[in-house]
Amino acid sequence: MKFALISGSHRPTGNSGRIAQHIAGLLEGQGHSTSVLDLATTELPFWDEGLWGAEGLKDKWQTQWEPVKSELASADAYIIVAPEYHGMAPSKLTNLFLLLGNGDVVAHKPVLIVTVSAGPVNGAYPVAELRSFSTKNNRMVYIPEHLIVRNAGDMFLPETKPEHEASNAYLTERLHWLLAMLTDYAEAFLTLRAKGHTQVPSPKFANGM
Ligand SMILES: Cc1cc2nc3c(=O)[nH]c(=O)nc-3n(C[C@H](O)[C@H](O)[C@H](O)COP(=O)(O)O)c2cc1C
Repeated sequence: MKFALISGSHRPTGNSGRIAQHIAGLLEGQGHSTSVLDLATTELPFWDEGLWGAEGLKDKWQTQWEPVKSELASADAYIIVAPEYHGMAPSKLTNLFLLLGNGDVVAHKPVLIVTVSAGPVNGAYPVAELRSFSTKNNRMVYIPEHLIVRNAGDMFLPETKPEHEASNAYLTERLHWLLAMLTDYAEAFLTLRAKGHTQVPSPKFANGM
């Protein structure tokens, strides 16, 4: 299977990018192929009408968005690693959803949500936001389980402080379970998409409901 990981952090040295790389390493170790789209270091323009062909605005999209879009389209499943920023998913991630629009890049493919908080209690808001407000037109499918990484600066490191060992072990065990589950979803959804009913049958249904 091919997994595309998307880190929504705006910080090149953020925990989300590091955790996305960690998860990619686990999947590679299981024989899967991966790509990591780190939105902190991959400069994607904010959406404008050039994406819809407006003269004077359209040229950048061919060079800056099309390669990213192709890479994402080649994946069987996705892992969105979203930091919590002021109780929200970050705007670079929202921008990515605007770019995905109502195309079929991620449509009817399974997605695992991983949220990241530096604090000991937060991280739930981006789960709620993503589940509610990010799939109507791009039609990606969140699996029912998710992972919230709290105290993120102390998790998934080569050395774990004694006070974080129990949390780290819990998250590690849960992550392995969720990756196995996501792999099963990815395999099953290949069969699902091949049936053909996931294709939008008419332009009148292009934008969901
Ligand atoms: C602009 C901004 C707002 C943040 N707001 C929150 C927040 O509301 N809740 C929270 O738990 N952490 C918040 N944090 C801290 C992040 O949880 C922390 O940086 C974490 O490591 C995930 O972000 P990162 O991947 O950019 O490192 C915020 C960080 C930034 C940069």
